[in-house]
Amino acid sequence: MNNNPDYSNISPTYNKRYQVNPLFGIQKYLIDLVVKENPQTVLEVGCGTAYWISIIEKLIKHSIGLDLSTGMLKEGKKSSKNISFVNGNAECIPFHNKSCDLIYCVNMIHQVGDKTRYITSAFEKLKTDGIFVIIGTDPMEKNDEWFIHKFFDGTYELDKKRFPSWNYLIDQFNTACFSELDLQTLEIIESRQVGKEIFDNYFIQKDSGSQLAMLDDYEYHKGINKIEQCVKNNPRYEFATKITMKALSGRK
Ligand SMILES: C[S@@+](CC[C@H](N)C(=O)[O-])C[C@H]1O[C@@H](n2cnc3c(N)ncnc32)[C@H](O)[C@@H]1O
Repeated sequence: MNNNPDYSNISPTYNKRYQVNPLFGIQKYLIDLVVKENPQTVLEVGCGTAYWISIIEKLIKHSIGLDLSTGMLKEGKKSSKNISFVNGNAECIPFHNKSCDLIYCVNMIHQVGDKTRYITSAFEKLKTDGIFVIIGTDPMEKNDEWFIHKFFDGTYELDKKRFPSWNYLIDQFNTACFSELDLQTLEIIESRQVGKEIFDNYFIQKDSGSQLAMLDDYEYHKGINKIEQCVKNNPRYEFATKITMKALSGRK
């Protein structure tokens, strides 16, 4: 199993997840932040299909989306002509030092191999007083759960390795010399499907997210068979999802 999927394979269908849940809590946080800070140059690292940057781009003079996957950038380019797109790596952001007012990422920190290099690179590229934000989730957080981890072998163990805890990120922000650290909950994604309702859940499709996209067909179908067997044995079985989305911000 690879540690990250090839996003170019899932880029054409990636935005379907936002039809299922537009994640209004994250939208509100980003809009409020931009209105409050009035940044001129904003960079989204790991922008994917540009879902987030296209929500705030009208409020900003220069919007830039950076991503490692050319397939994701190809989808992103369809969203707006006012966003500049750059193919590059978060670990070495390809811009001049002190060039951005706001740098943020959503649901991508778990994919970055060297998180220290990414956070240090973001610090360098920010102007004095600039803001850096990491938005995401820690699936190991107490009280969070996701049925995918129970039914698809290896996904929990892999996520445990990939996703940093918020305490780890706070230490990294402090080491990089960010100040005014703020960690807040933006929204809690919660759902519960009973028995065969689970087959209507978008997130059991193979290309719906990185966890299942990384499985080979054998492992994926093994998980689907486990779900089918579970529903057969207990038609009232509850498949639970509780994922807490948070934002950690710091000022240079
Ligand atoms: C889960 S997707 C999230 C996309 C987008 N931020 C969103 O929330 O819709 C993660 C994205 O991060 C990108 N990515 C992963 N590692 C990266 C890296 N080291 N540098 C830049 N982009 C990276 C992937 O190509 C992918 O587009």
